[in-house]
Amino acid sequence: MAKDTLSVTDNRTGRQYEIPITDGTIPAPELRKIKTSTEDFGLMSYDPAYLNTASCRSKITFIDGDRGILEYRGYPIDQLAEHCTYLDVAYLLLFGELPSPDQKTSWTRQITTHTIVHENIKKFVDGFQHDAHPMGMFLSTVGALSTFYPDAKNIFSEDIRRRQIHRLIAKVPTIAAYAYRHSIGMPYVLPDNDLSFPGNFLNMLFKMTELKYKPSPVLERALDVLFILHADHEQNCSTSAMRAIGSSHADPYSSLAGAAAALYGPLHGGANEQVLRMLALIGSKDRILEFITDVKQGKGKLMGFGHRVYKNYDPRAKILKNMAHEVFEVCGRNPLIDIAVELERIALQDDYFVSRKLYPNVDFYSGLIYQAMGFPVDMFPVLFAIPRTAGWLAQWEEMLLDPEQKITRPRQVFIGPKRRDLTIAKVSTSKATTIV
Ligand code: SDX
Repeated sequence: MAKDTLSVTDNRTGRQYEIPITDGTIPAPELRKIKTSTEDFGLMSYDPAYLNTASCRSKITFIDGDRGILEYRGYPIDQLAEHCTYLDVAYLLLFGELPSPDQKTSWTRQITTHTIVHENIKKFVDGFQHDAHPMGMFLSTVGALSTFYPDAKNIFSEDIRRRQIHRLIAKVPTIAAYAYRHSIGMPYVLPDNDLSFPGNFLNMLFKMTELKYKPSPVLERALDVLFILHADHEQNCSTSAMRAIGSSHADPYSSLAGAAAALYGPLHGGANEQVLRMLALIGSKDRILEFITDVKQGKGKLMGFGHRVYKNYDPRAKILKNMAHEVFEVCGRNPLIDIAVELERIALQDDYFVSRKLYPNVDFYSGLIYQAMGFPVDMFPVLFAIPRTAGWLAQWEEMLLDPEQKITRPRQVFIGPKRRDLTIAKVSTSKATTIV
């Protein structure tokens, strides 16, 4: 009868080892038993960027990259995008089930009543340069929140953890809106608790002199769907950062600031901003082939294409491509969509991209929608961070409560100089250098 084990022979010693296979993985510490002598440290696995290493067991998000499947707590992303709100999905990610009507009422009230930020946050945001990048303002201000809520360090008190989760989900749109309003020299807008989560965000961004802002229902719903699509994505770079920082028992504000910093990178959540810059640079459909040639010669990347896990069409990109036209009916058509659609058509027929299984990812179409809605390009990573806050917090809490987890501390393969002694000549020379 087949056994769930790996039989390994160390040809250096001829010894054989049986390593248990669980959930398609082997426990890496078992490799340490494979030694050439009792003094030998034993084997480690070597996996730069963790291409083939599971860092945790998780019940939150499932991705099948080959089949282009994304599920939050078992629900397919397209069904959640069609039938739920972002707050429903945030609740699902955190608590494992969609809220009942009573739970939804209570959850919405808890989030709504935490949307206001301390007045000193305005002074903090005012301190940034007029042309400061909104994502730099966002992640700094989120980190600064840790100084307003020192009790957040009590991460093993469920009540205290819950309150910080409410505060962060509720306040990140306010902070994002403050960053935007600062960048355009407009006064900050207080939250309007009569509005929905996305409706209030639009209010804090775009309210002018009217007494009460009325969000466009189409844009309110489009933002809700965008937030659902961006809410979590298992162990991506920024979530891994959230887990790693949180594993040292840092407070959730400091951990989330680190996660946002990881998301800011152009290879990750900063890609949506780079896609729009790329489409603007291409400028017209007749210049696409020239751009593709440059990419194939290694002169740059096709931003918004490719993915570490998806080797098929990102299901989120499919939903966004279809949704774009609904937004354009309200906001006016973004002409760059023609370049994007033609660029996708050409790339998906080109062996360079097909052979590398490079397909459009979530960032390829999201920026076109954001731009049509009136967001400046540098706000796009912030718009990614707002909904991902729910995913980061769900993953952070799962890590904290996982008995298998402890402080993250990978090993290394040292390839530097062997032990050597300082010579007097070197010491005297270096001292002379230092003095000079
Ligand atoms: C997000 O992880 C997540 O889940 C992230 C995310 C989430 O929701 O959290 O889905 C959000 O970050 C989406 C990805 C956004 N980034 C971009 O669109 C930037 C452009 N994409 C690439 O930089 C790249 O595809 C990555 C970073 C997304 C994935 O990189 P990998 O898995 O490390 O793959 P790789 O760089 O090793 O590429 C394999 C090959 C290489 O060619 P060869 O060396 O084999 O010749 O594919 C090439 C790469 O040069 N390649 C690209 C390319 N992406 C990969 N070539 C041109 N354009 C691209 N976009």
